[in-house]
Amino acid sequence: MLVLGIESSCDETAAAIVEDGTRVLGNSVASQFSLHEEYAGVVPEIASRAHVQAIVPVLNEALHKARCSLEEIDAVAVGHRPGLIGSLLVGLSAAKALAWSLDVPLIGVDHVHAHLYAGLLETPVDGMEKKRSTSIAMDAHYPALGIVVSGGHTALYLLGSPTDLIRIGSTIDDAMGEAFDKAATILGLPYPGGPNLDALSQLPGAHDSVVRFPVSRLGKDSLDMSFSGLKTSLLYAVRGHPGKGSHGPQGYERTQADVSDERKRDLAASFQKAAVEAIVLKATRALDRFDEFSDSPCRSILTGGGVLANSRLRYSLSDLARTRNLPIVLPDRSFCTDNAAMIAGLGTHMLSAGLRADLSLSPVPTTAC
Ligand code: KG4
Ligand code: ZN
Repeated sequence: MLVLGIESSCDETAAAIVEDGTRVLGNSVASQFSLHEEYAGVVPEIASRAHVQAIVPVLNEALHKARCSLEEIDAVAVGHRPGLIGSLLVGLSAAKALAWSLDVPLIGVDHVHAHLYAGLLETPVDGMEKKRSTSIAMDAHYPALGIVVSGGHTALYLLGSPTDLIRIGSTIDDAMGEAFDKAATILGLPYPGGPNLDALSQLPGAHDSVVRFPVSRLGKDSLDMSFSGLKTSLLYAVRGHPGKGSHGPQGYERTQADVSDERKRDLAASFQKAAVEAIVLKATRALDRFDEFSDSPCRSILTGGGVLANSRLRYSLSDLARTRNLPIVLPDRSFCTDNAAMIAGLGTHMLSAGLRADLSLSPVPTTAC
C-alpha cells in the first residue's frame, strides 16, 4: 500500500510516499528557517504564505524521488492537528483536493502521535524499490513507553499500538525544545537555538557542572515536567539577578556580551545536562509505574520529536534503556524534526484500523491527547 503523507503544521512543508507503513520511497521537506530567522521564532502569517508557495513543488519532489505517479497512491494522510491554523489549512486543503480527485481515502493524523511513529520508519530514504508487500510487523514493540520531545510538545505516553495512545505525563509550561530555543537566545546563539546550543555544549573543554541548574520533580510520583524555572535560572546565571544592576528595563547586573565564550559554553552544557536529566527522571518514573497503566509489561521505548536530534538526550535515554534491559527506538535524525513520512506511516496504520476521515476534516490547534 502506498500512502502519500502531507505535513504543514508549523514551519516545514513536507510530503512523503511511504509503502506499507515503513518504507520511505520519497521524502521531501522545505524548511522556512531563513524566513523566520530574523524574528528568532515562527511568524504564523509568514509561515502560512510560505506553505502555499512550497506545497506543490514539495509534492512533486516527493513523487519524483519515489518514482511514483499520483495514480499509484492508495490513500492520502495529512497532519491536521496540532499546529498553527493557517499552516495546517494549507496541507489539509491540498490533501483533501488530492484524496477527492484521486478517489482514495483521506486520513487525519495527529502530528504528536506521528512523532512517536517516526523511529519505526526504514532508512535510508528515497529511491527504494517498491516491494508492495502487505505485512506490517510492529507488534514486537508494544506495549511501549512513548517519549515525545519537540519544540511544541513534551510528553510521555503509554503506547498499546501505533494508534492506541494514552498520555500519562506532559510539560506544564514550556516544551523542552521551546526551552532550548529560548535558552539559546539568552546565550546569544543564532536561530534555531536547539541545535546550536547542542553544538556549543559539545565543544572541547565544555564543563557541564559549572552551575547546578534545577531539575523540576513536581510531586513525588508526578510524570509531568516543567522547564520554565530552568530557563529563568539560566537567564539569571547569564545576566545576574534583576533589580540589582542597570542593564535593560529589569535592571540586570550584566549584559550577554559581558559573559566570556568559555562561560557560555559551560552554561550551555550545564543547561543541557539539567534539561536531559528532567526527561530521564520522568521516563524512569514512568517505567517504574508502567504496570499501573498497562496489563502487560513494557516491551520497548519509542521516542520522537525534534529534540531527539540532541546528542545528550539520545545518549542518556539509550543508557536508561540499557539499564532497564529494554530496546529503544531513536528516529534517524532526519525523522526527528518535522516530516511527512511519519504522517504517512502512522496514517497507514490508522487506515488499517478503519480510522478514515472525510472532507469535513478540520485543522485543530491542540493535540488529541
Ligand atoms: O519536532 P520539531 O521539528 O517541531 C515541533 O513539532 O515542535 O521540533 C523542533 C524543535 C526546536 O525547538 C529545535 O530547537 C529542537 O527541536 N531541536 C533541538 C535539536 N535539534 C532540533 N534541540 C536540542 N538539540 C538539538 N540537536
Ligand atoms: Zn513536530
